[in-house]
Amino acid sequence: MDHFQLRNGELYAEDVPVERIARAVGTPVYVYSRATLERHARVFREGLSDVAHKHLAFAVKSNPNLAVLGVLKRQGYGADVVSEGEMKRALTAGMPAEDIVFSGVGKSRRELAAALEAGIGQFNLESEEEGVELAEIAAAQGRTASAALRVNPDVDAGTHAKISTGKADNKFGVAYHQAGAIYRRLSGLEGLAMRGLAVHIGSQITNLDPSRAAFTKMGELMRALRAEGCTVTHMDLGGGLGVPYRAGERLPGPQEYGAMIADVTSGWDAVLMFEPGRVITGNSGVLVTEVIRVKPGVTAPFVVIDAAMNDLARPALYDAWHDFMAVQPTGERMSAHIVGPICESSDTFATNRDIDTVKAGDLAVFRTAGAYGATMANTYNSRALVPEVMVDGDKWAVVAERIEPETIFAAERVPDWLQ
Ligand code: LLP
Repeated sequence: MDHFQLRNGELYAEDVPVERIARAVGTPVYVYSRATLERHARVFREGLSDVAHKHLAFAVKSNPNLAVLGVLKRQGYGADVVSEGEMKRALTAGMPAEDIVFSGVGKSRRELAAALEAGIGQFNLESEEEGVELAEIAAAQGRTASAALRVNPDVDAGTHAKISTGKADNKFGVAYHQAGAIYRRLSGLEGLAMRGLAVHIGSQITNLDPSRAAFTKMGELMRALRAEGCTVTHMDLGGGLGVPYRAGERLPGPQEYGAMIADVTSGWDAVLMFEPGRVITGNSGVLVTEVIRVKPGVTAPFVVIDAAMNDLARPALYDAWHDFMAVQPTGERMSAHIVGPICESSDTFATNRDIDTVKAGDLAVFRTAGAYGATMANTYNSRALVPEVMVDGDKWAVVAERIEPETIFAAERVPDWLQ
């Protein structure tokens, strides 16, 4: 359930007509709904109501906008960050350092040091080498870093290959069969307080069986470590819960996910940590675009829109589906290819799609664009960086300005010897 609904034949974001925002800010533009963000944050937490001790860390990578982070902070969420930049965003949004988890396969020395200085609550280590380095830096600073070891359980999440992270050949975590020995060695290092295990097998997960299998393996590892006298008080179960991208699609939601977690983890006696991203932000945002023109094609017309793969990369990268709807639908339908203006064929959002009939000048949206949308935008073809708007009831505001090409190339320099 989201707050982008038709009222009297026109699409609204909460109580604001989408057209009003598009005419004021221009297109393309992302529009987020505060009520939807809050609802999803609440529903995810409620799904885990049977988990006694939990820590919710919003995956900043899914939508790092400061206004979005502020909403989630007020919902009691900490953050899962994967770079110094994301860490600074979470801190700037007011999230307490101790509620921040630092994940990521390639944390640099500099990032580790900065995160230690900031007092980050937990480091999710991706290798023994990273643990040794973190221990050294912490000891030199006279600090102790709380850490979890990310384990690769070799479980196929059944999602798109490019967003699958838990198979043996994926770069993430340490191999399951080596995890025990590494954990024991890291537990003995000065500067490091090993407190748990972490796992994350992929994103846009639509079947809970692989997660159940992975968490079951993690429970076995936890018990084996405890039996040897190691401390394991925290179990980070990652993020990954999928969202419906097509109207009417039924997927396991937070309720089913929570029931599975409660079942698998019963008797664990650990703080369970979660890193949800998409399930909170996905349906909280749309990308608004204007139709530039409709061009005849051989099999179907091309609807050429002013949003492109640089604004929303998911269809080009993962063949992802985003529902497309007119802001003022007439009730008529057409079959069309939806394409952006960028000069390559990967700038295609949909082929032979049954859509609302649109013509030049009409506004339309891609739905479920709140996660991995604006944050993956770039300026290819010297296009502007897409702006973002937050709606709250009948109020709305620009929460990220459009960054024009001139601003971007103002950072470029032509040395004397080229002039
Ligand atoms: N925790 C870790 C360690 C992760 O790597 C990720 C996502 C998450 C949590 C959050 O996962 P979520 O709940 O959002 O599924 N750009 C891709 C998705 C990449 C996900 C990367 N890791 C897309 O547009 O589908």
